Amino acid sequence: MGGIFIGRLEGKVAIITGAASGMGLAGAQLFAKEGAKVVATDVVVEKLERNVNEIIENGGDVTALQLDVSKPESWSDVIDKTIRKYGKIDVLVNNAGIHIAKGILEAELDDWNKVMAINTTGVWLGMKAVIPHMQKNGGGSIINTSSIAAIVGGIGDGHGAAYSASKGAVRSLTKHAAQWFGENNIRVNSVHPGAIFTGMAEAVGIKTQENMGSHYNGKAALRPYAGESMDIANAYLYLASDESKYVTGLELIVDGGWTTRS
Ligand SMILES: NC(=O)c1ccc[n+]([C@@H]2O[C@H](COP(=O)([O-])OP(=O)(O)OC[C@H]3O[C@@H](n4cnc5c(N)ncnc54)[C@H](O)[C@@H]3O)[C@@H](O)[C@H]2O)c1
Repeated sequence: MGGIFIGRLEGKVAIITGAASGMGLAGAQLFAKEGAKVVATDVVVEKLERNVNEIIENGGDVTALQLDVSKPESWSDVIDKTIRKYGKIDVLVNNAGIHIAKGILEAELDDWNKVMAINTTGVWLGMKAVIPHMQKNGGGSIINTSSIAAIVGGIGDGHGAAYSASKGAVRSLTKHAAQWFGENNIRVNSVHPGAIFTGMAEAVGIKTQENMGSHYNGKAALRPYAGESMDIANAYLYLASDESKYVTGLELIVDGGWTTRS
């Protein structure tokens, strides 16, 4: 006879962006396992549905919805469907993001605008869309995915100027929102991953976590010098759950010690 399992997110409704792959997908898997009703969203639909079906087959309560985080009308659609199906929103994980590996001198205005539209404007639009529902609901938890690129320079050998700027904006926007919506019991925190083996790494030809880590030996302190998606999903879980009920405006760094080096 097994004991009674009460998940850490039992009864909570959580929207996750960028959930077709990487950290967003790991978050959807973990949140479902911990008892949340999960609205897993991504701009890429086919891969999202395939991965969500697998979570449902394992007993999770998950709904897949298409969402382009840079479009306000796309947010309205997802929020309407979520409220119709689940009646409330407790958690938003603004995880979707892109990286364009161009420095200040190489980037074109279109590159810059595209990165900012998804990584920064998308986070603002998400908060704007869910906060009124959280206010009605008596509170909530918003988790914004930033990066260690918001904290130190030199990430990606000088490439990714817009990426660093976009993630720096997420860091400060998070602290702004934490201050302004604390009185509504809405907590807003940012997560700052270091090098993590995900779809983003695979897209540039890196095939394994160890393979990725070998680039970062001498930067991260912990072996294998790169993390995995579940390391970040566990940070999302802590911030989504009531275990972090007195935590807001935090920047939770999950980087194997990279940013602690002088
Ligand atoms: N992988 C790393 O080393 C690393 C390090 C620091 C921060 N991050 C951040 O972590 C987050 C997750 O990244 P990941 O590594 O899991 O990458 P990933 O590429 O595996 O996943 C990102 C997801 O976002 C989706 N997406 C892209 N544009 C979108 C849009 N307009 N609307 C909705 N979804 C969109 C993609 O389809 C993809 O499924 C990102 O914000 C990224 O910047 C990653």
